[in-house]
Amino acid sequence: MVSDRSSAPIGMFDSGLGGLTVARAVIDLLPHEDLVYFGDTARTPYGPRPPQQIREFGLEIMDLLVEENVKMIVVACNSVDVTVGVDVHERYGVPIVSVIEPGVKAGIGATRNRRLGMIGTVATVESRAYDVAVERTKANVFFESRSCPKFVDFVERGDTTSDALLAAAEDYLTPLKELDIDTLILGCTHYPLLSGVIQYVMGDDVVLISSAEATANEVYAQLLDTDRLNRAERPGHQRFMLSGEPESGGELGRRFLGPEFGHAEHRPWEAAA
Ligand code: DGL
Repeated sequence: MVSDRSSAPIGMFDSGLGGLTVARAVIDLLPHEDLVYFGDTARTPYGPRPPQQIREFGLEIMDLLVEENVKMIVVACNSVDVTVGVDVHERYGVPIVSVIEPGVKAGIGATRNRRLGMIGTVATVESRAYDVAVERTKANVFFESRSCPKFVDFVERGDTTSDALLAAAEDYLTPLKELDIDTLILGCTHYPLLSGVIQYVMGDDVVLISSAEATANEVYAQLLDTDRLNRAERPGHQRFMLSGEPESGGELGRRFLGPEFGHAEHRPWEAAA
């Protein structure tokens, strides 16, 4: 059942815990909104999978969120975002917020030498969705992207500082650094959790763009425009569902999001079907 009531929760999902970077920004900006977050930790990572399968997983999760009566869906996963089109907006009848356009807008606004980079999963980079979004702005900037296939696994393991991670970052990012880009879009919602190592390798002069804040602004704008803002005075309530064992995800969830993560519900696919 679809709900458009302003008191209904916002639905949000990712292949795992990376989307919590977007959840954090939404909670900070809209503290009165209720939130239902689904992390598909049993099937992460999505990035190396074929686009058709990523799309099917995304639709499965959006079906589940709509069953929870959400008033909006935030696709906090670039790899899914690049596989869904306008048809999805029609399918669900609730506003669907993308992470790509807000990130591109912020990147274009930040570059000073008009040389923009993006890093993401294989699925995101190969889709060329960011290339198209950059072209659509007609901003006339140089744009280059690179996939960083190992990054998501590091995050899901809770490794944000190891030597192996630094070596992988040097390997992935050095070619972009040599292109003299001054702004780098983190085109995967897991990557803001690696911003220490990414900034270290790229150097202090390069601006890192996390789409989290820009996406939260877009959530506010669309709630306002569609008359769905929750005007309640009380603090919002957050629910977190993970398809994998919450024992492993729970502790990391608190580390990545903060105390609001609390208790994570286990929603294995068999039970959710
Ligand atoms: N956080 C995801 C994204 O923004 C997911 C990556 C993955 O599971 O590979 O693309």
